[in-house]
Amino acid sequence: MLARPSTKAAAGVAAKATRSYVAPVSATSCLSSQSTSKRSYATVQDAAPKQRTYGGLKDQDRIFQNLYGHHGTDLASAKKYGDWHKTKEIIGKGHDWLINEIKASGLRGRGGAGFPSGLKFSFMNFKGWENDKKPRYLVINADEGEPGTCKDREIMRKDPHKLVEGCLVVGRAMNATAAYIYIRGEFYHEATVLQRAIQEAYKDGLIGKNACGSGYDFDVYLHRGAGAYVCGEETSLIESLEGKAGKPRLKPPFPAAVGLFGCPSTVTNVETVAVCPTIMRRGSKWFASFGRERNQGTKLYSISGHVNNPCTVEEEMSIPLRELIDRHCGGVKGGWENLQAVIPGGSSTPILPKKVCDDQLMDFDALKDSQSGFGTAAVIVMDKSADVVRMISRLSAFYKHESCGQCTPCREGSTWVMKMMERFEKGQARAREIDMLQELTKQVEGHTICALGEAFAWPIQGLIRHFRPELEKRVQEYKRQTGAEALAGGWEPGSGKEGLLISPGQ
Ligand SMILES: Cc1cc2nc3c(=O)[nH]c(=O)nc-3n(C[C@H](O)[C@H](O)[C@H](O)COP(=O)(O)O)c2cc1C
Ligand code: SF4
Repeated sequence: MLARPSTKAAAGVAAKATRSYVAPVSATSCLSSQSTSKRSYATVQDAAPKQRTYGGLKDQDRIFQNLYGHHGTDLASAKKYGDWHKTKEIIGKGHDWLINEIKASGLRGRGGAGFPSGLKFSFMNFKGWENDKKPRYLVINADEGEPGTCKDREIMRKDPHKLVEGCLVVGRAMNATAAYIYIRGEFYHEATVLQRAIQEAYKDGLIGKNACGSGYDFDVYLHRGAGAYVCGEETSLIESLEGKAGKPRLKPPFPAAVGLFGCPSTVTNVETVAVCPTIMRRGSKWFASFGRERNQGTKLYSISGHVNNPCTVEEEMSIPLRELIDRHCGGVKGGWENLQAVIPGGSSTPILPKKVCDDQLMDFDALKDSQSGFGTAAVIVMDKSADVVRMISRLSAFYKHESCGQCTPCREGSTWVMKMMERFEKGQARAREIDMLQELTKQVEGHTICALGEAFAWPIQGLIRHFRPELEKRVQEYKRQTGAEALAGGWEPGSGKEGLLISPGQ
């Protein structure tokens, strides 16, 4: 039994299971209903298209069979649950077959951006790659620094062989010579478990020279980082692996052309790689049967915050947010009506108020349509007791701390945002500063080397989009308490009279 242990609150789920979560009609089904609308409904073929619901993944369809540590992490246990089954035959099918299967499965990167994985891996097999004598690397991003995200660590400490086998399968697909797993330094336990799994795989002949007896040589190395959020960015990660300070590189060149140690490389997330062997065994069609078009597969969701039973759970893509929380987390504390807001995909994705959450599907396209993001599917739930302004302010402080400082808009912008948000927490700001804050984030977006700029800009934009009245209320409350609004820049109302408000040099 792989479903989460039941909780008191989860008992209510059965009752709620009768509630139907009907997906909004997709663009394609819109088209089909339009095209049939002129025809009669007299025949079976003319019947209205059946609406599909998502969620309720069955245990037999879960890829991560040991997510809750019900059996061992050792090789024998892993094999018992299906890992390393027919791996030799799988990698023997060659890179074209492997890449095509990944493309057909619809898998999109699980590291946040959701780029189609098959296409990404195919960039390594560029024209004439056979003549390039340089080594080629698969780099696994196990940095998992996005606040709220806690899925990759679960894979590494409970199902490490899924990742090691994934390294071989994905490595073979891109004709890589070796895989480097870059793991966050703080994940000491995970690194220990994973290293043991790598050693077991070497000892059993599954990786290394003549991996699985296939004639293909493939090494796997584990590298512990020092725990900086920006080192999760792919080029920064490469710099750090090379022993340098983790500062993102300008692109192009992209890693597939010039990557680790100047060799063709691809950086990809732990979950993306760990699901690949199962996709190969069960077939791309099986994986693609879950979720909406362009958003296929199963996915690990990490749900934290004001829910009765925070957890990491594997579910179908496109599951409604409400069902995810009710079915697996025992609901929002105090009930769904007590919900205030949700950050749906890790801290850098814009916050959504309850009225949007009511009908929100959890996938890349649905969350983009709601002006947020699926990101890493790390759902942070806030009930009505949460201070959303304080919450976003705290995140601003995090991003300011993690900026590597290379780009002026990010270095200075993140500092300004943090300082303004600290003032907004207390209402010590002018109402027109809300628009200035918005303008500032727009100036940062798209003007930095890496996406950390967007990562601190988007949460602010989400706050202003949905919680502007809350910011204004704080300014008014400050005015009520002190007798006047704060002066420009947050100076206290009496500062002028006290001689504090003077220009530099005066
Ligand atoms: C500041 C920053 C931090 C990131 N941190 C991570 C991370 O911890 N783990 C991760 O897989 N991807 C992270 N990414 C995304 C990676 O750059 C990259 O897109 C991802 O590893 C690609 O893997 P995928 O194709 O499997 O999604 C981060 C990106 C940025 C800009
Ligand atoms: S956006 Fe920020 S973190 Fe990224 S390279 Fe520029 S300064 Fe560094």
